[in-house]
Amino acid sequence: MSPAPEASAAAALEFVEPGQTLGLGTGRAAEAFVRALGARVADGLDVRGVPTSQRTEALARELGITLLTLAEAERLDTTFDGADEVDPHLDVIKGYGGALVREKIVAASSDQLVILVGAEKLVEKLGDRGKLPVEVVAFGQALADRRLREIGCEPVLRRSDGAAPYVTDNGNHILDCRVSAIDRPAQLEQQILAIPGVLGTGLFIGMADAVIVQDGDQVEVRRRS
Ligand code: A5P
Repeated sequence: MSPAPEASAAAALEFVEPGQTLGLGTGRAAEAFVRALGARVADGLDVRGVPTSQRTEALARELGITLLTLAEAERLDTTFDGADEVDPHLDVIKGYGGALVREKIVAASSDQLVILVGAEKLVEKLGDRGKLPVEVVAFGQALADRRLREIGCEPVLRRSDGAAPYVTDNGNHILDCRVSAIDRPAQLEQQILAIPGVLGTGLFIGMADAVIVQDGDQVEVRRRS
């Protein structure tokens, strides 16, 4: 079990300025950030948030953070989110928590993306942890399954509680592709996106501006050069 992400959440608050509109990610690290932000909001900090999942939306509401839709916000200052893998170029795999498509849309709407991870998420090459989530329209799942196999990714349908297919906030399914170290992630992303019915992959290439790495109590901020 990785250390509680409170130290990286506190470091992430350094990126926040009054009056900003922030993307609020999904998962344990992102939720630690939302809780830290909620405490500042309770003390009077004026910010608005755009959540990347229903789960984060519920938490942010409970904490009294003013929320906007993406359409209302138009442009966001910084999105704060977790990740499942981070490579030395600060490229990232996300989506083990299932919110990858909304996370990518919100991140792409933001001037800056800040990722919070424990040191155990650092990898030499993306794919090292063996999984790449891909969100697909249920109707297109059989085609996506076949095409993914053709390009060397073995898809496994994500299930809830070992039974019914997992359904994303967008009403779609997730194929968790079994992968090994990915040599050309940007090329693989394009190949997967070319499959009709695929909505997005967990590959976030060239998107993260800073990664806050927590190792025990130590926190290091890495910035894209
Ligand atoms: C949600 O879809 C994911 O992208 C999460 O942001 C990512 O899996 C990291 O989550 P944890 O902070 O819970 O490990």
